[in-house]
Amino acid sequence: MVANGTTLEYVTKSFEPDREVYIEARNTLLASKDRIRGPMPDFGTNSTPIERVTPAPIGNHGAMTASPLLHPDVRHLAFLLGHWAGGGTGHYPTIADFEYREQVWFDHVGKPFISYRQATKDAHTGLPLHAEVGYLRPVGTDRVELVVAQPSGIVELHEGLVDGTTIRLATTSVVTTATAKDVSAVERSVVVTEDELSYDLSMAAVGLPLQHHLSARLMRS
Ligand code: HEM
Repeated sequence: MVANGTTLEYVTKSFEPDREVYIEARNTLLASKDRIRGPMPDFGTNSTPIERVTPAPIGNHGAMTASPLLHPDVRHLAFLLGHWAGGGTGHYPTIADFEYREQVWFDHVGKPFISYRQATKDAHTGLPLHAEVGYLRPVGTDRVELVVAQPSGIVELHEGLVDGTTIRLATTSVVTTATAKDVSAVERSVVVTEDELSYDLSMAAVGLPLQHHLSARLMRS
């Protein structure tokens, strides 16, 4: 902050969750005889953006960090890191088939886990569908644990195998809240080929045996 006579210059920082960026802006306050007047910080109108910084989007609760070094225990999972965008299709015997657009973020904070976040929208209406967040925890270099939570009241605990850039996971436990739909088992497979990520998901839900629910293909962006 710099005070110069009747002018006060200061920099504000605001997080834009939709775009996963911080915006820094330079603002000026002018002091009149008996009060301070001037624009309230209002990014894009009364202030001048001076810098955009992409923060680590997940895993650090929005705090901006210098790029941390990848923890050696998750080095073999580095192929996941980044932002992915694409789409998929879904079905289950009890519901109508659907198509969706999806974004996925895998990130790290220098600790021995990979953060995961996903959000989807209906491909036709653009309305939000499923979303989930979780953490991948390595067990050596060929096994992995996944904990993932969904706003629909479902929490999945997985164990799986890592084979190159393929991960196959199966739940050891699914926990649901009192009002959530019944889900008793989930299997997920993720295959990354350079900048393409594809996955399949099967579930045992609403009293039916394990069967396919989702397929999707995303590109690293
Ligand atoms: C990309 C991720 C996903 C998308 C886009 C998606 C989308 C949908 C849609 C559109 C429906 C039908 C309408 C509705 O009930 O909301 C549905 C139903 C359902 N989904 Fe998913 N889903 C996703 C992932 C999951 C996962 C990970 C689980 C469980 C582990 C799950 C469990 C269910 C269940 C239990 C139903 C209800 C089936 C029924 O009522 O008979 N979904 N999903």
